[in-house]
Amino acid sequence: VSISVLFFLTLKNDVLICRNYMGNMDMNEIDHFMPFLIKREEEAEMTPLITHGSSHFLWIKHNNLYLVAMTKKNANAALLYSFLYKIVQVFQEYFKELEEESIRDNFVTVYELMDEVMDFGFPQTTDSKILQEYITQEGHKLEIGAVRPPATVTNAVSWRSEGIKYRKNEVFMDVIESVNLLVNATGSVLRSEIVGCIKLKVILSGMPELRLGLNDKVLFEITGRDKSKTVELEDVKFHQCVRLSRFQNDRTISFIPPDGESELMSYRLNTMVKPLIWIESVIERFSHSRVEIKVKARSQFKSRSTANNVSILVPVPSDADSPKFKTSTGSAKWVPEKNVVQWNIKSFPGGKEYLMRAHFGLPSVESDELDAKRPILVNFEIPYFTVSGIQVRYLKIIEKSGYQALPWVRYITQSGDYQLRTN
Ligand SMILES: *[C@@H]1O[C@H](CO)[C@@H](O)[C@H](O)[C@H]1NC(C)=O
Ligand SMILES: *[C@@H]1O[C@H](CO)[C@@H](O)[C@H](O)[C@H]1NC(C)=O
Repeated sequence: VSISVLFFLTLKNDVLICRNYMGNMDMNEIDHFMPFLIKREEEAEMTPLITHGSSHFLWIKHNNLYLVAMTKKNANAALLYSFLYKIVQVFQEYFKELEEESIRDNFVTVYELMDEVMDFGFPQTTDSKILQEYITQEGHKLEIGAVRPPATVTNAVSWRSEGIKYRKNEVFMDVIESVNLLVNATGSVLRSEIVGCIKLKVILSGMPELRLGLNDKVLFEITGRDKSKTVELEDVKFHQCVRLSRFQNDRTISFIPPDGESELMSYRLNTMVKPLIWIESVIERFSHSRVEIKVKARSQFKSRSTANNVSILVPVPSDADSPKFKTSTGSAKWVPEKNVVQWNIKSFPGGKEYLMRAHFGLPSVESDELDAKRPILVNFEIPYFTVSGIQVRYLKIIEKSGYQALPWVRYITQSGDYQLRTN
């Protein structure tokens, strides 16, 4: 038994919501359903199965809705019907009544239920007790006779206008963590902080609902239930589009995103993680006029990750001259306007150690005081990696027209204010 697409239609033949399970049929085929149905009704021929070309529609009517299963293969009709009735039953247990309004009011939950009851077109559990463990609703049970706000109220979204259209629907999500570090001359970490944010670039038509699921680790720590854990997200801030009550209730991050670029969420993490790139430096004087600085750089993250575009800025005295360099990898150059030696390493895999020696002269015999206060600065980026361990488990994109949209997620950790004092 397999269903390619499941539609909920209004009596006026509007697609209220649909779920394309298999992606093997033209969604527009549904346009043939209602005209056939009306024709059959006129001919007083009530048949629960309608065929158009190679498309089969199995349908039931419930209140002011048609539930239509579109299939390609000659499916086992009896099983599919019992499945459609089972869906009605599940939705009734969730929403008290299944009708146009209850679907409009519980759009996301309905979509998730459509997801869970079927996997790649094959019916899965329809036991509402089991489903309720997975899918928690916002409790929009219809009160019979109660006054309901008109459905258009849900479209009052100040940060997104209606009628947005794209030919290709995509969402790009960047999880970016910046590491701030301050280490003193004896190698003690005085400050270690991670500032994270999730950035969105949304290219989606209509009024999409997005749901972001993060990994348990972070969710668990956001709740702060276990303070003894070393990692704890702080100062979690959301864009105004995120439904905060929903987040507080079940940790789901659900929202209608702004069009284009925006920052969805930011957070901070104060934790003594091992510094990702560790630097040690030694200064040797050969005479009053020649100095050598030895710098050792060590990557302290797992070897499956690689830091890119690493630059290490080592301070040198302002009157240094005739510099010479030796590096075990990368290249070093003197940047006199900044009074630094800049050591560039394009690719720095985890668990490696590299060396650089800078040798230069100091013309004045007196000038042997290296700039006392200037620290070594390090810049780097590590793609596909987050220090906090935050991870996107899913990003669901739900739009009532049922289009397919691709989510793209990227992770990057980069240096923020990353300093190691030398003296
Ligand atoms: C570095 O910090 C540690 C711990 O606070 C301290 O014991 C040490 O004296 C500091 N070293 C310098 C050179 O300030
Ligand atoms: C390194 O930096 C250059 C210039 O900023 C950039 O074009 C390039 O994409 C970076 N490389 C990597 C691997 O991030």
